[in-house]
Amino acid sequence: MSFFYKPIEIENFETLRKGLLDAYPVAHTHTKLFYPEEKLDFFLKIPEAVEIFERYKIRKFLIPNLGCAFIRINPKNLVPIHTDTNPELRYSFNIPLTDCSGSILEFFTSEIPGVPGVTPNGLVYTSYDINRCKLELKTPITGPFIMDTQMIHQVINDSDDTSILLLIRLSHEITDIIDQYF
Ligand SMILES: [Fe+2]
Repeated sequence: MSFFYKPIEIENFETLRKGLLDAYPVAHTHTKLFYPEEKLDFFLKIPEAVEIFERYKIRKFLIPNLGCAFIRINPKNLVPIHTDTNPELRYSFNIPLTDCSGSILEFFTSEIPGVPGVTPNGLVYTSYDINRCKLELKTPITGPFIMDTQMIHQVINDSDDTSILLLIRLSHEITDIIDQYF
């Protein structure tokens, strides 16, 4: 059975979180989602990332030419309503590296199709008219979680803290068996 959102408890979370935050490229100071240039190789050099891949046995669902992403949402900023449109990507295992509890994640449904777009750093997405969407779930980001990137979503950081998350991107191949892994 599939789901669109599920909180995940990670044992040793504080240690893993600190190690992953050390790997965040400091040059990135704006609100954005980005993939490090070395793609998956970047993360295979981080022991804390490899530990998570192995613990959840998800190494085979990572997308080599995509890898994992970081997302940064600065205070009083947002990632506006969208779905992710990369054809290889389906689920994202997201791990807060800073205290993200001031950031609110919202999921929606829409009867009306979205409009394709491209971010300034070249990532494809589909945007939606929020006034014509129905809110299905709203939750603060208080810990790791898995989400379906094809469910319409947005993140609002109305707090004074910067939110940084690691996004472990998982391919379509896990969709029908995701319950066996998480
Ligand atoms: Fe997204």
